[in-house]
Amino acid sequence: MKKKIQVTLNGKKTELEVPSHRLLLDLLRDEIGLTGTKEGCGTGDCGACTVLLNGKPVNSCLIFSGELDGADIVTIEGLKIGPEMHPVQRAFVQDGGVQCGYCTSGMLMMSKALLDENPDPSEDDIRFAISGNLCRCTGYAKIVKAVQDAARELRNRRS
Ligand code: FES
Ligand code: FES
Repeated sequence: MKKKIQVTLNGKKTELEVPSHRLLLDLLRDEIGLTGTKEGCGTGDCGACTVLLNGKPVNSCLIFSGELDGADIVTIEGLKIGPEMHPVQRAFVQDGGVQCGYCTSGMLMMSKALLDENPDPSEDDIRFAISGNLCRCTGYAKIVKAVQDAARELRNRRS
């Protein structure tokens, strides 16, 4: 059964008519064309599909579209600030936190959620926050450094 929903998607109010059981991941990728969000496992275990839903990170492969009326959704395509990359995106590139890139959009969304809540996370805080985001390439050390560097830049911007 199709359902009309209104959402704010990457800052824009959007009206959609969706099958209630369409997964948010499929809605984003296949119907809206926002393919930056990746599908890894499809079962909530890898974090590749992480987006922000009402400011909190969620696995979009586990969310039904019919539940989204009124929701605020941010995907990797909405992460940059104006024309500029978000500091966390820039830090991942500079620090080598991106290799094959498959996990990267999920990692970035999870990192943004952490930094929104905790501007000065410890290494343990970062490792805990990304513990549901699997990366087969980097060994995580460069990702952790990138999040620390982004946190420092964001704090400097605020001071
Ligand atoms: S694709 Fe959603 S958690 Fe793996
Ligand atoms: S960069 Fe390849 S899976 Fe993380």
